[in-house]
Amino acid sequence: MVRYFLFFFVLVAAGVVSLAGFRGEKFSKTPLQITPDMKHQPKVITQHGSTFFADNRGDHPLVAGTIPVGYNLPGRYSQSGVNNQAGNSTFTSEPTYRDTGIMGEVYGDGIALEVNARLLERGRERYEIFCSVCHDRSGSGNGVTKAFGLATVASLLDDRIKAQPDGQIFSTITNGKNTMGAYGPSIAVEDRWAIVAYVRALQKTQLVKLDQLSPEAKAQLEKK
Ligand code: HEC
Repeated sequence: MVRYFLFFFVLVAAGVVSLAGFRGEKFSKTPLQITPDMKHQPKVITQHGSTFFADNRGDHPLVAGTIPVGYNLPGRYSQSGVNNQAGNSTFTSEPTYRDTGIMGEVYGDGIALEVNARLLERGRERYEIFCSVCHDRSGSGNGVTKAFGLATVASLLDDRIKAQPDGQIFSTITNGKNTMGAYGPSIAVEDRWAIVAYVRALQKTQLVKLDQLSPEAKAQLEKK
C-alpha cells in the first residue's frame, strides 16, 4: 500500500515539476496558473480603467453629498471645532492621559482640556450628533434606537456612571464597551473630552430634585 502511494506520489510530483518547473525559476513564457495568482485581482487600480463600470472608468468623481475619508470639512462641521494648542484636532493614541483617559494603571479624573462655555457647546453638539441616538439628548438611555431593539443602552444619569472618573468615560467613548461600539476612530481626541465635559453637565442638571435647586433657579422655574 505504502509502496503504491510512494510510487504515485513520485509520479505526480515529477509530472507537476515537469509542467510547472521549480519554484523561483525564471521563465520567458507566460507562467501556467493552475489556480489564479494573487497578482491578478478583480480590483480597481488607481489611474486605470475598469470594465466593471459602464463608463469603463476606474476612478469616479465624488458622489454628491459625500465626504472622502480623512477630509476635514470647513466651518461649522469641522473636526477642528475644538482645537489643541497647535490649532489642530487630533486622532492620536499616545500613551498619555489626554489620549487614553488612563493615568498609570487606573482611569484618571479631570477633563484634559480647559473647560469653558465653548468646550461645553462643542460637547453638546457632538453629543447630540454621536450619542443621542442611543443615550437620548437628556442622557437617559431612551434614544430612538431603543424602539428598534437596542434594549440595553446604559443611562448616563445612573449613579454608577456618575461615580466613574472622567478618564473612564473618555475610554468608553474611545474603545466602546460590550454592545456599544468604539467612537475613537470617528471623534477627535479634543471632541471626546468636550463630550465628557457635556456628559458631566447633563449628570448635574438632569433628574435634579426640586429641593436641590437654588432659590434663583426655583424662581425661574415658577415663572415658566
Ligand atoms: C449605537 C448606540 C450607542 C451610541 C451611539 C453610544 N452608545 Fe454609549 N452605550 C450603548 C450601550 C448599548 C451601552 C451599554 C453597554 C453595556 O452593555 O455595558 C452603552 C454604555 C455607555 C456608557 C457606560 C459604560 C459603562 O461603564 O457601563 C457610557 C459612559 C456611554 N455609553 C457613553 C456614550 C457616549 C459619550 C457616546 C457618544 C460618543 C455613546 N455612548 C454613544 C450604546 C451606544
